[in-house]
Amino acid sequence: MEQLSVDQYLFKYKNYNFTKGHTTAEYIDSLQTFEIRDSDIFLVTYPKSGTVWTQNIIISILEQDTDLPAYPNNSKQMPWLEYREDPEDYSLRPSPRLLASHLTPTLLPPGLKNKRTKIIYVMRNPKDNIVSYYHFCSIFAGLETPKNFEDFLDQYLVGNVAGSSWFDHIREWHAERDQYNILFLTYEEMVLDLKAAIIKICSFLGKNLSEAVIDQIVEKTTFKNMKNDPKANYQFMPEEILKGQFMRKGKIGDWKNTFTVAQSETFDQILQERLGDMGLKFIWDTELPPQP
Ligand code: A3P
Repeated sequence: MEQLSVDQYLFKYKNYNFTKGHTTAEYIDSLQTFEIRDSDIFLVTYPKSGTVWTQNIIISILEQDTDLPAYPNNSKQMPWLEYREDPEDYSLRPSPRLLASHLTPTLLPPGLKNKRTKIIYVMRNPKDNIVSYYHFCSIFAGLETPKNFEDFLDQYLVGNVAGSSWFDHIREWHAERDQYNILFLTYEEMVLDLKAAIIKICSFLGKNLSEAVIDQIVEKTTFKNMKNDPKANYQFMPEEILKGQFMRKGKIGDWKNTFTVAQSETFDQILQERLGDMGLKFIWDTELPPQP
């Protein structure tokens, strides 16, 4: 079993970078026989794309009419498939099981291709994704604190970060979309119209909620309210693991405060080279064009 060390914090297995100490190659292998249920709900993202936000939305929708077991926080209610805080046997969880993952299609349980199990995939514009990831690496003890932004950008571009290459993640999930029952969302559409995004998720999950309940979920999952919600804001993580605010800015376009013009132009070129053929549209900021 080849398990290459990438650095002090990461190990590479099956061409994917995992954080050390949170999972093992043997466990990742075992996912190939992990039994999938039609009723499972998966949330899949590249890191720092709005996972915890969407996790909170899915749980808030589900708990309206589903008898979910009580867990102390959202991370336990919808745990990471590949990173395990404790050796819980997920096969003992009652349905519907809620699971989050940063994995690529190849590493996930093949049973997900039954086309019935629901997968919600959230993508974020990569420049905001990089900036969010850069800050997260400085507060999360499980990852190396970047020397500076330039250096982190270089590592990100070659996929030398936990979760490996953003470009590969996006391409693989889009290329294999027909094999899954999958809803694609973007972080930006959630910021621009949270209610519409929640309605989309409800409809995908087959939940017909009243307008009043949807409005309550919108309210509960705004950046401001999530930041004050101890079940959702990840402040429950011990300070020696997370030494800062998980809920940082929650904005579109913050990358402009970090990228230089040259870095942005180089990135645009690489994005075009790597994913230009896919016809993806990104929302890079929320500023309205100047009025004539
Ligand atoms: P920023 O670092 O740009 O603020 P993930 O959960 O995948 O790690 O993504 C984290 C990013 O989602 C962070 O971005 C975090 O602030 C943002 N986020 C979390 N909840 C949010 C919300 N309710 N509204 C907007 N952004 C949110």
